[in-house]
Amino acid sequence: MNQQSKTQYDAVSQTFHWLTAIFVVIAFILGPEHFGRLMKQGIDPATRIDIVWHESLGMLVMALTVLRLLWGALRSSTPHIPMDPWMRIAAKLVHVGLWALLLALPVSALLALSSRNIPLTLLGGFRLDPIPLMAGSSMAALADWGDVHQFLGDAIMWLAGLHAAAAIYHHVVLKDGVLAAMLPRRRSR
Ligand code: HEM
Ligand code: HEM
Repeated sequence: MNQQSKTQYDAVSQTFHWLTAIFVVIAFILGPEHFGRLMKQGIDPATRIDIVWHESLGMLVMALTVLRLLWGALRSSTPHIPMDPWMRIAAKLVHVGLWALLLALPVSALLALSSRNIPLTLLGGFRLDPIPLMAGSSMAALADWGDVHQFLGDAIMWLAGLHAAAAIYHHVVLKDGVLAAMLPRRRSR
């Protein structure tokens, strides 16, 4: 293992991280308001560009998260930057919370659609109706998954905001290389 890999995340981890962050923020901005009312009015979700983009980006985030977890298991090392133990534990807890939300968001959305027999509609005219395994399942009837999904969508933005603020604090105040570890390496001449 070379020295550089200990201060820097590898390029694959960095790419996964920043693509996920960008797609989550855009999906949040496009989060369909009044979805229940629109569906009751009989509107086809495929005709609403905000819904189609929201669901497509959200499913892309799910695919990236699964690939990223696989990569996380395969990659050889992650940077180890010295810091107080409480800070390391707090960062770990926030990361675990972010991972959990990245997985729970698409699952809750698919349950929200299945419980109301609404198809999943993605870019390119893709339509899944009914959603396999979930439609008619006892899980789908267990909660108002639309409300749960909305709550989780808000929660990931709060937690990501805290996480980003901590990264900036590390960079500006502690100057310990935590943020730089997730940024592309500057070329030294
Ligand atoms: C990146 C992950 C995601 C985030 C951050 C997110 C965020 C949100 C937010 C904040 C809302 C509420 C919008 C509002 O009421 O103003 C929402 C609604 C919704 N999202 Fe997502 N979402 C994500 C992934 C997905 C995925 C993968 C799907 C489809 C499978 C999806 C389908 C929906 C649907 C159908 C609603 C309306 C729910 C209802 O009101 O019953 N979302 N989302
Ligand atoms: C929705 C937005 C975001 C999500 C979901 C997210 C998620 C994550 C996750 C899951 C990790 C652990 C990565 C791994 O083990 O490979 C991580 C690490 C990191 N993130 Fe984010 N992140 C987001 C936005 C941001 C932003 C805006 C910044 C900077 C301002 C940032 C800076 C970092 C840094 C510096 C690390 C490495 C921390 C360490 O090694 O302790 N993230 N992020």
